[in-house]
Amino acid sequence: MAQKTLLKGRVLSFNGSPFEGEPTDATELHEAVLIEDGRIAALGSASDLSVAHPEAKVKDYGDKLISAGFVDPHVHYPQTAMIASWGKRLIDWLNSYTFPEEMKFDDPVYAAEIASRYLDLTTAHGTTTMCSFCTIHPESVDAFFSAAIARGQRVVAGKTCMDRNAPEGLRDTAQTGYDQSKSLLEKWHGVNRISYAITPRFSPTSTPDQLEAMGALWAEHPECLMQTHLSEQTDEIEWVRSLFPEARDYLDTYEQFGLLGGNGLYGHVIHLEDRERDRLREVDAALIHCPTSNTFIGSGLFDMNGLIREGHRVGLATDTGGGSSFSMLRTMAAAYEIGQLRGRPLHPSQLLWLGTVGSAQTLRMDDRIGNIAVGMEADLVVLDLASTPAIAQREAHADDLWEAVFPTIMMGDDRAVAEVWIAGRAVTG
Ligand code: GUN
Ligand code: ZN
Repeated sequence: MAQKTLLKGRVLSFNGSPFEGEPTDATELHEAVLIEDGRIAALGSASDLSVAHPEAKVKDYGDKLISAGFVDPHVHYPQTAMIASWGKRLIDWLNSYTFPEEMKFDDPVYAAEIASRYLDLTTAHGTTTMCSFCTIHPESVDAFFSAAIARGQRVVAGKTCMDRNAPEGLRDTAQTGYDQSKSLLEKWHGVNRISYAITPRFSPTSTPDQLEAMGALWAEHPECLMQTHLSEQTDEIEWVRSLFPEARDYLDTYEQFGLLGGNGLYGHVIHLEDRERDRLREVDAALIHCPTSNTFIGSGLFDMNGLIREGHRVGLATDTGGGSSFSMLRTMAAAYEIGQLRGRPLHPSQLLWLGTVGSAQTLRMDDRIGNIAVGMEADLVVLDLASTPAIAQREAHADDLWEAVFPTIMMGDDRAVAEVWIAGRAVTG
Protein backbone atom coordinates (compact mmCIF):
# COMPACT_ATOMS: atom_id res chain seq x y z
CA MET A 1 0.00 0.00 0.00
CA ALA A 2 1.18 3.52 -0.79
CA GLN A 3 2.79 5.52 1.98
CA LYS A 4 0.46 8.15 3.43
CA THR A 5 1.77 11.30 5.08
CA LEU A 6 -0.32 13.61 7.22
CA LEU A 7 0.96 17.20 7.45
CA LYS A 8 -0.43 19.28 10.29
CA GLY A 9 -0.24 23.06 10.33
CA ARG A 10 -2.24 26.00 9.01
CA VAL A 11 -3.16 24.71 5.56
CA LEU A 12 -4.20 27.49 3.17
CA SER A 13 -6.30 26.79 0.09
CA PHE A 14 -8.28 28.94 -2.35
CA ASN A 15 -11.86 28.24 -3.38
CA GLY A 16 -12.07 31.14 -5.82
CA SER A 17 -10.35 34.34 -6.85
CA PRO A 18 -9.59 36.95 -4.16
CA PHE A 19 -10.01 39.58 -6.87
CA GLU A 20 -13.75 38.84 -6.97
CA GLY A 21 -15.62 39.93 -3.84
CA GLU A 22 -13.92 40.17 -0.46
CA PRO A 23 -10.27 39.06 -0.81
CA THR A 24 -10.44 36.80 2.24
CA ASP A 25 -13.66 35.05 1.17
CA ALA A 26 -11.73 33.10 -1.45
CA THR A 27 -9.53 31.39 1.14
CA GLU A 28 -9.99 28.43 3.49
CA LEU A 29 -7.86 27.24 6.38
CA HIS A 30 -7.59 23.56 7.31
CA GLU A 31 -5.72 21.83 10.12
CA ALA A 32 -4.16 19.07 8.08
CA VAL A 33 -3.50 17.73 4.60
CA LEU A 34 -3.03 14.07 3.67
CA ILE A 35 -0.57 13.14 0.92
CA GLU A 36 -0.65 9.81 -0.88
CA ASP A 37 1.12 8.76 -4.09
CA GLY A 38 2.47 12.26 -4.67
CA ARG A 39 -0.97 13.85 -4.57
CA ILE A 40 -3.29 15.54 -2.13
CA ALA A 41 -5.61 12.80 -0.83
CA ALA A 42 -7.62 14.73 1.79
CA LEU A 43 -7.95 18.01 3.65
CA GLY A 44 -9.66 18.61 6.96
CA SER A 45 -9.44 18.53 10.72
CA ALA A 46 -6.28 17.01 12.19
CA SER A 47 -8.18 14.67 14.51
CA ASP A 48 -10.58 13.38 11.81
CA LEU A 49 -7.73 12.68 9.41
CA SER A 50 -5.60 11.04 12.12
CA VAL A 51 -8.48 8.73 13.06
CA ALA A 52 -9.31 7.91 9.44
CA HIS A 53 -5.66 7.26 8.51
CA PRO A 54 -3.92 5.82 11.58
CA GLU A 55 -1.18 4.31 9.41
CA ALA A 56 -0.11 7.70 8.02
CA LYS A 57 3.27 9.13 8.95
CA VAL A 58 2.64 12.42 10.75
CA LYS A 59 4.61 15.64 10.35
CA ASP A 60 3.45 18.42 12.67
CA TYR A 61 4.42 21.93 11.55
CA GLY A 62 2.66 23.65 14.46
CA ASP A 63 1.42 27.10 13.48
CA LYS A 64 3.45 27.27 10.27
CA LEU A 65 1.54 28.04 7.07
CA ILE A 66 1.26 25.23 4.52
CA SER A 67 0.65 26.67 1.05
CA ALA A 68 0.81 25.35 -2.48
CA GLY A 69 4.36 25.66 -3.77
CA PHE A 70 5.05 28.91 -5.58
CA VAL A 71 4.66 28.98 -9.36
CA ASP A 72 6.95 31.33 -11.31
CA PRO A 73 5.74 31.64 -14.92
CA HIS A 74 8.52 33.80 -16.41
CA VAL A 75 12.20 33.20 -15.66
CA HIS A 76 15.51 32.92 -17.48
CA TYR A 77 17.44 30.21 -15.65
CA PRO A 78 20.58 30.94 -17.74
CA GLN A 79 20.72 34.41 -16.17
CA THR A 80 21.29 32.98 -12.68
CA ALA A 81 24.98 33.87 -12.54
CA MET A 82 24.53 37.47 -13.79
CA ILE A 83 21.57 38.49 -11.62
CA ALA A 84 22.03 41.96 -10.06
CA SER A 85 24.15 43.44 -12.85
CA TRP A 86 24.38 47.21 -12.48
CA GLY A 87 23.21 50.28 -14.24
CA LYS A 88 21.68 49.44 -17.64
CA ARG A 89 18.27 49.64 -19.23
CA LEU A 90 16.82 46.78 -21.26
CA ILE A 91 18.67 46.84 -24.59
CA ASP A 92 22.07 47.76 -23.07
CA TRP A 93 21.48 45.30 -20.25
CA LEU A 94 20.89 42.50 -22.80
CA ASN A 95 23.99 43.42 -24.82
CA SER A 96 26.32 44.10 -21.88
CA TYR A 97 25.43 41.34 -19.45
CA THR A 98 22.85 38.89 -20.73
CA PHE A 99 24.11 37.86 -24.13
CA PRO A 100 27.73 37.29 -23.01
CA GLU A 101 26.47 35.03 -20.20
CA GLU A 102 24.04 33.15 -22.47
CA MET A 103 26.92 32.44 -24.90
CA LYS A 104 28.39 30.09 -22.29
CA PHE A 105 25.51 27.64 -22.62
CA ASP A 106 26.92 25.95 -25.68
CA ASP A 107 28.88 24.04 -23.03
CA PRO A 108 26.64 21.28 -21.65
CA VAL A 109 28.72 21.04 -18.46
CA TYR A 110 28.21 24.72 -17.68
CA ALA A 111 24.50 24.47 -18.60
CA ALA A 112 24.07 21.53 -16.20
CA GLU A 113 25.90 23.38 -13.42
CA ILE A 114 23.69 26.48 -13.72
CA ALA A 115 20.47 24.48 -14.13
CA SER A 116 21.23 22.65 -10.92
CA ARG A 117 22.25 25.84 -9.09
CA TYR A 118 19.08 27.61 -10.26
CA LEU A 119 16.83 24.76 -9.08
CA ASP A 120 18.65 24.61 -5.72
CA LEU A 121 18.13 28.34 -5.20
CA THR A 122 14.48 28.39 -6.24
CA THR A 123 13.62 25.31 -4.20
CA ALA A 124 15.18 26.99 -1.17
CA HIS A 125 12.81 29.90 -1.84
CA GLY A 126 9.72 27.67 -2.08
CA THR A 127 9.20 27.70 -5.84
CA THR A 128 8.17 24.30 -7.15
CA THR A 129 7.24 25.05 -10.79
CA MET A 130 8.59 27.61 -13.23
CA CYS A 131 8.40 28.44 -16.91
CA SER A 132 11.90 29.25 -18.16
CA PHE A 133 13.52 30.66 -21.22
CA CYS A 134 16.69 28.70 -22.02
CA THR A 135 19.32 29.93 -24.55
CA ILE A 136 19.54 29.28 -28.28
CA HIS A 137 21.55 26.12 -27.49
CA PRO A 138 19.60 22.85 -27.41
CA GLU A 139 22.10 21.77 -24.70
CA SER A 140 20.61 24.42 -22.39
CA VAL A 141 17.17 22.86 -22.74
CA ASP A 142 18.44 19.32 -22.21
CA ALA A 143 20.32 20.45 -19.08
CA PHE A 144 17.29 22.16 -17.55
CA PHE A 145 14.83 19.34 -18.21
CA SER A 146 17.30 16.68 -17.04
CA ALA A 147 17.86 18.55 -13.76
CA ALA A 148 14.10 18.98 -13.26
CA ILE A 149 13.41 15.29 -13.89
CA ALA A 150 16.07 14.31 -11.36
CA ARG A 151 14.14 16.37 -8.78
CA GLY A 152 10.66 15.29 -9.86
CA GLN A 153 9.65 18.87 -10.64
CA ARG A 154 6.90 20.09 -12.94
CA VAL A 155 8.58 22.64 -15.21
CA VAL A 156 8.03 24.34 -18.54
CA ALA A 157 10.85 25.62 -20.76
CA GLY A 158 11.95 26.11 -24.33
CA LYS A 159 14.87 26.97 -26.56
CA THR A 160 15.08 30.76 -26.93
CA CYS A 161 15.09 31.52 -30.66
CA MET A 162 16.97 34.55 -32.06
CA ASP A 163 18.15 35.07 -35.62
CA ARG A 164 19.07 38.77 -35.59
CA ASN A 165 20.24 41.62 -33.33
CA ALA A 166 22.22 39.23 -31.18
CA PRO A 167 25.96 38.46 -31.34
CA GLU A 168 27.53 35.81 -33.53
CA GLY A 169 27.33 32.56 -31.59
CA LEU A 170 23.94 33.48 -30.14
CA ARG A 171 21.92 33.38 -33.35
CA ASP A 172 20.13 30.54 -35.07
CA THR A 173 18.17 30.88 -38.32
CA ALA A 174 14.48 30.67 -39.13
CA GLN A 175 15.05 27.07 -40.24
CA THR A 176 17.38 25.86 -37.47
CA GLY A 177 15.28 27.63 -34.84
CA TYR A 178 12.25 25.74 -36.11
CA ASP A 179 14.04 22.40 -36.51
CA GLN A 180 15.73 22.46 -33.10
CA SER A 181 12.59 23.63 -31.31
CA LYS A 182 10.57 20.89 -32.98
CA SER A 183 13.01 18.15 -32.11
CA LEU A 184 13.29 19.36 -28.48
CA LEU A 185 9.51 19.54 -28.25
CA GLU A 186 9.17 15.98 -29.60
CA LYS A 187 11.90 14.76 -27.25
CA TRP A 188 10.64 16.35 -24.04
CA HIS A 189 7.00 17.46 -24.09
CA GLY A 190 4.98 15.20 -21.80
CA VAL A 191 7.97 13.29 -20.42
CA ASN A 192 7.45 12.93 -16.65
CA ARG A 193 6.32 16.40 -15.50
CA ILE A 194 7.97 18.30 -18.39
CA SER A 195 6.20 20.65 -20.81
CA TYR A 196 7.80 22.34 -23.79
CA ALA A 197 7.12 26.02 -24.55
CA ILE A 198 7.77 27.46 -28.00
CA THR A 199 10.05 30.44 -27.26
CA PRO A 200 10.77 33.32 -29.63
CA ARG A 201 12.70 35.74 -27.36
CA PHE A 202 10.99 38.95 -28.61
CA SER A 203 10.34 40.44 -32.00
CA PRO A 204 13.53 42.60 -32.14
CA THR A 205 15.68 39.44 -32.13
CA SER A 206 13.65 37.46 -34.68
CA THR A 207 13.24 38.16 -38.40
CA PRO A 208 9.73 37.98 -39.84
CA ASP A 209 10.80 34.61 -41.32
CA GLN A 210 11.67 33.27 -37.88
CA LEU A 211 8.46 34.58 -36.30
CA GLU A 212 6.53 32.91 -39.12
CA ALA A 213 8.36 29.62 -38.53
CA MET A 214 7.61 29.82 -34.78
CA GLY A 215 3.95 30.50 -35.60
CA ALA A 216 3.90 27.47 -37.89
CA LEU A 217 5.37 25.26 -35.16
CA TRP A 218 2.76 26.50 -32.68
CA ALA A 219 0.01 25.78 -35.20
CA GLU A 220 1.33 22.21 -35.44
CA HIS A 221 1.43 21.96 -31.62
CA PRO A 222 -1.36 24.17 -30.25
CA GLU A 223 -1.30 22.11 -27.04
CA CYS A 224 2.07 23.70 -26.19
CA LEU A 225 2.51 27.02 -24.47
CA MET A 226 4.27 29.83 -26.33
CA GLN A 227 6.26 32.40 -24.32
CA THR A 228 7.75 35.74 -25.28
CA HIS A 229 8.16 39.38 -24.18
CA LEU A 230 5.81 42.25 -25.00
CA SER A 231 5.84 45.99 -24.37
CA GLU A 232 8.44 46.12 -21.61
CA GLN A 233 10.23 49.44 -22.21
CA THR A 234 9.40 52.51 -24.28
CA ASP A 235 12.79 52.36 -26.13
CA GLU A 236 12.09 48.74 -27.00
CA ILE A 237 8.66 49.64 -28.37
CA GLU A 238 10.22 52.37 -30.56
CA TRP A 239 12.74 49.82 -31.83
CA VAL A 240 9.97 47.36 -32.68
CA ARG A 241 8.15 50.13 -34.55
CA SER A 242 11.24 50.80 -36.67
CA LEU A 243 11.86 47.11 -37.37
CA PHE A 244 8.21 46.39 -38.29
CA PRO A 245 6.93 49.62 -39.88
CA GLU A 246 3.86 47.86 -41.27
CA ALA A 247 2.69 46.49 -37.92
CA ARG A 248 -0.25 48.15 -36.15
CA ASP A 249 1.53 47.88 -32.79
CA TYR A 250 3.99 45.61 -30.93
CA LEU A 251 1.44 42.82 -30.43
CA ASP A 252 0.75 42.81 -34.16
CA THR A 253 4.35 41.70 -34.78
CA TYR A 254 3.31 38.44 -33.07
CA GLU A 255 -0.31 38.35 -34.19
CA GLN A 256 0.46 38.56 -37.93
CA PHE A 257 2.70 35.49 -37.63
CA GLY A 258 0.31 33.30 -35.64
CA LEU A 259 1.95 34.04 -32.29
CA LEU A 260 -1.11 35.36 -30.48
CA GLY A 261 -3.27 32.82 -28.68
CA GLY A 262 -4.82 31.57 -25.48
CA ASN A 263 -1.80 29.38 -24.78
CA GLY A 264 0.53 32.37 -25.13
CA LEU A 265 2.41 33.91 -22.21
CA TYR A 266 3.41 37.54 -22.65
CA GLY A 267 5.98 38.87 -20.19
CA HIS A 268 5.93 42.44 -18.81
CA VAL A 269 3.06 43.98 -20.90
CA ILE A 270 3.45 47.41 -19.29
CA HIS A 271 2.88 50.01 -22.00
CA LEU A 272 -0.03 48.37 -23.84
CA GLU A 273 -2.23 50.22 -26.30
CA ASP A 274 -5.99 49.76 -26.20
CA ARG A 275 -6.03 47.49 -29.25
CA GLU A 276 -3.38 45.28 -27.67
CA ARG A 277 -5.31 45.00 -24.41
CA ASP A 278 -8.49 44.15 -26.28
CA ARG A 279 -6.90 41.48 -28.46
CA LEU A 280 -5.02 39.88 -25.56
CA ARG A 281 -8.31 39.69 -23.68
CA GLU A 282 -10.27 38.36 -26.67
CA VAL A 283 -7.91 35.42 -27.12
CA ASP A 284 -7.56 34.90 -23.32
CA ALA A 285 -3.78 35.25 -23.41
CA ALA A 286 -1.73 35.15 -20.19
CA LEU A 287 -0.11 38.35 -18.95
CA ILE A 288 2.91 37.99 -16.69
CA HIS A 289 3.75 40.69 -14.15
CA CYS A 290 7.48 40.83 -13.33
CA PRO A 291 7.65 43.57 -10.68
CA THR A 292 11.25 43.31 -9.41
CA SER A 293 12.47 43.30 -13.01
CA ASN A 294 10.28 46.20 -13.99
CA THR A 295 11.76 48.40 -11.29
CA PHE A 296 15.31 47.00 -11.55
CA ILE A 297 15.61 47.57 -15.32
CA GLY A 298 13.49 50.70 -15.05
CA SER A 299 10.64 49.52 -17.27
CA GLY A 300 7.47 50.88 -15.64
CA LEU A 301 4.44 50.09 -13.52
CA PHE A 302 2.17 47.20 -14.57
CA ASP A 303 -1.55 48.01 -14.47
CA MET A 304 -2.67 45.11 -12.25
CA ASN A 305 -5.98 46.60 -11.23
CA GLY A 306 -7.05 47.68 -14.70
CA LEU A 307 -6.04 44.44 -16.39
CA ILE A 308 -7.70 42.20 -13.79
CA ARG A 309 -10.85 44.31 -13.98
CA GLU A 310 -10.90 43.82 -17.75
CA GLY A 311 -10.80 40.06 -17.17
CA HIS A 312 -7.22 39.28 -18.14
CA ARG A 313 -5.46 36.19 -16.80
CA VAL A 314 -2.47 37.50 -14.81
CA GLY A 315 0.48 35.67 -13.26
CA LEU A 316 3.34 36.86 -11.06
CA ALA A 317 6.97 36.11 -11.92
CA THR A 318 10.54 36.84 -10.87
CA ASP A 319 11.98 37.25 -14.39
CA THR A 320 15.33 36.10 -12.95
CA GLY A 321 17.91 37.63 -13.76
CA GLY A 322 16.34 40.86 -15.08
CA GLY A 323 14.39 40.44 -11.89
CA SER A 324 16.54 41.05 -8.84
CA SER A 325 15.48 38.02 -6.79
CA PHE A 326 14.81 34.28 -6.91
CA SER A 327 12.13 34.71 -4.25
CA MET A 328 8.42 34.75 -4.97
CA LEU A 329 7.92 36.36 -1.53
CA ARG A 330 10.16 39.26 -2.57
CA THR A 331 8.28 39.36 -5.87
CA MET A 332 4.94 39.63 -4.04
CA ALA A 333 6.40 42.48 -1.98
CA ALA A 334 7.42 44.28 -5.17
CA ALA A 335 3.93 43.75 -6.63
CA TYR A 336 2.51 45.25 -3.47
CA GLU A 337 4.77 48.29 -3.78
CA ILE A 338 3.88 48.83 -7.42
CA GLY A 339 0.21 48.53 -6.47
CA GLN A 340 0.76 51.26 -3.89
CA LEU A 341 2.45 53.49 -6.45
CA ARG A 342 -0.64 53.04 -8.64
CA GLY A 343 -2.96 53.72 -5.70
CA ARG A 344 -4.17 50.11 -5.31
CA PRO A 345 -2.68 48.06 -2.46
CA LEU A 346 -2.96 44.33 -3.06
CA HIS A 347 -4.30 42.24 -0.17
CA PRO A 348 -1.96 39.48 1.13
CA SER A 349 -4.46 36.86 -0.08
CA GLN A 350 -4.29 38.40 -3.57
CA LEU A 351 -0.49 38.35 -3.49
CA LEU A 352 -0.36 34.69 -2.41
CA TRP A 353 -3.04 33.80 -4.98
CA LEU A 354 -1.06 35.49 -7.77
CA GLY A 355 2.08 33.52 -6.84
CA THR A 356 0.23 30.19 -6.77
CA VAL A 357 -3.22 29.78 -8.39
CA GLY A 358 -2.97 32.82 -10.69
CA SER A 359 0.41 31.79 -12.04
CA ALA A 360 -0.74 28.17 -12.43
CA GLN A 361 -3.70 29.47 -14.45
CA THR A 362 -1.34 31.29 -16.80
CA LEU A 363 0.39 27.96 -17.43
CA ARG A 364 -3.02 26.24 -17.90
CA MET A 365 -2.01 23.93 -15.05
CA ASP A 366 -4.37 25.06 -12.31
CA ASP A 367 -6.06 21.65 -12.35
CA ARG A 368 -2.75 20.09 -11.18
CA ILE A 369 -0.65 22.67 -9.30
CA GLY A 370 -0.92 26.03 -7.52
CA ASN A 371 -3.54 25.06 -4.94
CA ILE A 372 -4.19 22.48 -2.24
CA ALA A 373 -7.19 20.40 -3.22
CA VAL A 374 -7.93 16.70 -3.42
CA GLY A 375 -6.36 15.12 -6.49
CA MET A 376 -3.82 17.87 -7.07
CA GLU A 377 -0.09 17.23 -7.13
CA ALA A 378 1.52 17.57 -3.71
CA ASP A 379 3.88 20.48 -4.38
CA LEU A 380 3.89 22.48 -1.15
CA VAL A 381 5.80 25.15 0.71
CA VAL A 382 5.78 25.35 4.50
CA LEU A 383 6.31 28.93 5.70
CA ASP A 384 7.58 30.00 9.09
CA LEU A 385 5.75 33.28 9.76
CA ALA A 386 8.32 34.32 12.40
CA SER A 387 11.55 33.50 10.57
CA THR A 388 13.63 36.51 11.65
CA PRO A 389 13.56 38.72 14.74
CA ALA A 390 12.18 41.63 12.71
CA ILE A 391 9.34 39.55 11.25
CA ALA A 392 8.67 37.71 14.53
CA GLN A 393 8.19 40.90 16.57
CA ARG A 394 5.61 42.15 14.05
CA GLU A 395 3.85 38.81 13.69
CA ALA A 396 3.64 38.42 17.48
CA HIS A 397 0.85 40.97 17.80
CA ALA A 398 -1.01 40.24 14.56
CA ASP A 399 -4.80 40.26 14.96
CA ASP A 400 -5.55 37.77 12.23
CA LEU A 401 -3.95 35.42 9.73
CA TRP A 402 -3.46 38.11 7.10
CA GLU A 403 -1.71 40.45 9.47
CA ALA A 404 0.47 37.49 10.46
CA VAL A 405 1.30 36.60 6.85
CA PHE A 406 1.97 40.10 5.52
CA PRO A 407 5.32 40.71 7.33
CA THR A 408 6.65 37.49 5.78
CA ILE A 409 5.50 38.62 2.34
CA MET A 410 7.17 42.01 2.78
CA MET A 411 10.32 40.99 4.63
CA GLY A 412 10.65 37.23 4.19
CA ASP A 413 13.23 35.33 2.19
CA ASP A 414 14.53 31.75 2.07
CA ARG A 415 14.77 31.75 5.88
CA ALA A 416 10.95 31.74 5.92
CA VAL A 417 10.85 28.48 3.95
CA ALA A 418 10.78 25.72 6.56
CA GLU A 419 10.20 22.87 4.12
CA VAL A 420 9.31 22.21 0.50
CA TRP A 421 7.40 19.19 -0.80
CA ILE A 422 7.73 18.17 -4.43
CA ALA A 423 5.35 15.49 -5.72
CA GLY A 424 4.75 14.32 -2.17
CA ARG A 425 8.43 14.13 -1.22
CA ALA A 426 10.00 16.44 1.37
CA VAL A 427 13.05 18.29 0.14
CA THR A 428 15.17 20.63 2.19
CA GLY A 429 13.80 24.12 2.59
N1 GUN B 1 13.38 41.07 -23.47
C1 GUN B 1 14.04 40.23 -24.30
N2 GUN B 1 14.88 39.42 -23.62
C2 GUN B 1 14.74 39.73 -22.34
C3 GUN B 1 15.32 39.23 -21.13
O1 GUN B 1 16.15 38.32 -21.13
N3 GUN B 1 14.92 39.82 -19.97
C4 GUN B 1 14.01 40.82 -19.95
N4 GUN B 1 13.65 41.35 -18.78
N5 GUN B 1 13.45 41.31 -21.05
C5 GUN B 1 13.81 40.78 -22.24
ZN1 ZN C 1 12.06 37.69 -19.58
